[in-house]
Amino acid sequence: MKYLIVANWKMNPVSLKSAERILDSVVKKNNKLTKTDVVICPPFLYIPFLKKDFKIGAQNCFSEKEGSFTGEISPFQLRDMNCDYVILGHSERRKYFKETDELINDKIKESLKSKLIPIVCVGEGKEERKRGKAFSFVESQVSKCLAGLSKKEAKKIVFAYEPVWAIGSGNPASFKDAEEMRICIQKVFLKTFDISPKIIYGGSVDVDNASGYLEEAGFKGLLIGGASLDKRFSEILRILN
Ligand code: PGA
Repeated sequence: MKYLIVANWKMNPVSLKSAERILDSVVKKNNKLTKTDVVICPPFLYIPFLKKDFKIGAQNCFSEKEGSFTGEISPFQLRDMNCDYVILGHSERRKYFKETDELINDKIKESLKSKLIPIVCVGEGKEERKRGKAFSFVESQVSKCLAGLSKKEAKKIVFAYEPVWAIGSGNPASFKDAEEMRICIQKVFLKTFDISPKIIYGGSVDVDNASGYLEEAGFKGLLIGGASLDKRFSEILRILN
């Protein structure tokens, strides 16, 4: 099975021209990827315009198919624009837009109905880790996000372990800490559905640590923010292939 490498561009770059330039450079430098599947998650607006050399994902969606929800975008609409994936519950959505596990659970269900693959982000903050509550916190996030899903639905989900304190901080989780949390998430899944999910790691992934999360910590892929916007992304793909 190939590693899943997801580029989370967040609210970058500021123009379609720059977005095309970033993507062109990745396409040019990576025309023979044998060990990785790449998913690019640009801002919504660029999705219809970018070439589909790689799979495309969105960074969020709403929990309904259509209707009076001003400013929102539905999973069905994303699928219609040839998206394959959607990132849900990113810590920035939880922090700035007050998204709860219950809302994320609804979004997961609606995304699956539209045949989008949800990449569901979970991860503890600095406080939970300091108080020794990281595992129970993440377990609870995972359980709540999975509530009411069938085994068949759960099988399709990708989980991203992203410790909040590691995101954009240049302070990534150690391979050992990350591996322990991967096993914890896997246990919740096994207990509930008797299957192992695909779990990827995110949080200050860079050229020097990317392969360690896969080879040493046992993750099945990476969710990359800052390093997905410049030449480091191609360098990471080169190392992994
Ligand atoms: P980062 O972001 O790689 O810049 O830490 C990861 C993310 O927010 O998904």
